[in-house]
Amino acid sequence: MAKVAVVEGDGIGHEVVPVAREILAAVRPDFEFFDVEVGYGLWERTGSACGEETIADLQSADAILFGAVTTPPDPGYRSVLLQIRHALDLYANVRPIQGEGVDIVIVRENTEGLYSGIEWTEPDRACTVRVVSRRGSERIARYACTLAGSRRHLTIGNKANVLKSDCLFVEVCTAEAARMGVPCRARYIDALCLDLLMHPDLYDVVVTTNMFGDILSDAAAYLVGGLGLLPSANIGKRAALFEPVHGSAPDIAGQNIANPVAAIRSAAMLLSHLGDPASAAAVEEAVHRVLRAGIRTRDLGGVAGTREFGAAVLREVGQR
Ligand code: NAI
Ligand code: MG
Repeated sequence: MAKVAVVEGDGIGHEVVPVAREILAAVRPDFEFFDVEVGYGLWERTGSACGEETIADLQSADAILFGAVTTPPDPGYRSVLLQIRHALDLYANVRPIQGEGVDIVIVRENTEGLYSGIEWTEPDRACTVRVVSRRGSERIARYACTLAGSRRHLTIGNKANVLKSDCLFVEVCTAEAARMGVPCRARYIDALCLDLLMHPDLYDVVVTTNMFGDILSDAAAYLVGGLGLLPSANIGKRAALFEPVHGSAPDIAGQNIANPVAAIRSAAMLLSHLGDPASAAAVEEAVHRVLRAGIRTRDLGGVAGTREFGAAVLREVGQR
């Protein structure tokens, strides 16, 4: 029996995660769920956004269903999600962009790059170190090439013309692709951002460093209807965390208007990861049927609330 940690986090995490959890529980009544509290709200109340015991709790789970956390742009506040990704060594951030005529997977290195956490502030300047290691690049390249091997090809998103750190990244990814017999090409990330939006059919698996992947995946949401739809997986050797690509959306929190699709699809990715692709497909199919029936949240031009959309998916799942 799988143990699933459930982290709502902040903002709309409190609305979309309960919906996703209910659907998970419906398709897998044998799963054991336990709640873990982290985030800015917790920090405001207790002075700690994520304690050591919390990390241990997360490590004890077979998989983590995560909402989103608010991170204020404050030099004194450390991002909880970065802390969790580092502590659990969740090195591969897998972001499928799938919709009509679009089937792309962005594989983002998730533990180093510009989000290595090595930074400091001086009176008149602030520095962030961009770390690209051979080991870090090798493992993300291997993950991306394994995925691309069962699909079509690999694109390496980079800025090696300007950043020495990306010369190493491209070198390692290219070598790994050659070793594994995966067709591959390198593209500069700025031009790639535009080209991916204009010609999505030219892209299959895209591997890139941490911040480039962060930005590229939000931009790519444009191809399939916005941030409310995109799920993601954060994969490590011993842990896996599933979360929407979007954040805590404080501008719409607490109004029952957030789109829960990204969270529900993240739950489907969790099911696949735990070895149940049939239930994952059933959940995906249920979401499709509800959307096709015209039941949509406000971001997609509809009038359904977060809970009402969730209830509709739950009904579809129940009827399979
Ligand atoms: P955001 O993704 O929360 O929101 C961007 C825009 O998309 C907002 O207008 C929001 O209303 C809309 N949106 C996002 N998700 C939606 C959904 N499910 N349904 C309908 N509309 C949706 O990004 P933003 O505003 O830049 O950041 C807000 C907070 O979230 C910040 O504190 C940021 O640090 C945090 N954040 C957390 C992430 C995480 O926990 N993985 C990821 C990105 C941001
Ligand atoms: Mg982001």
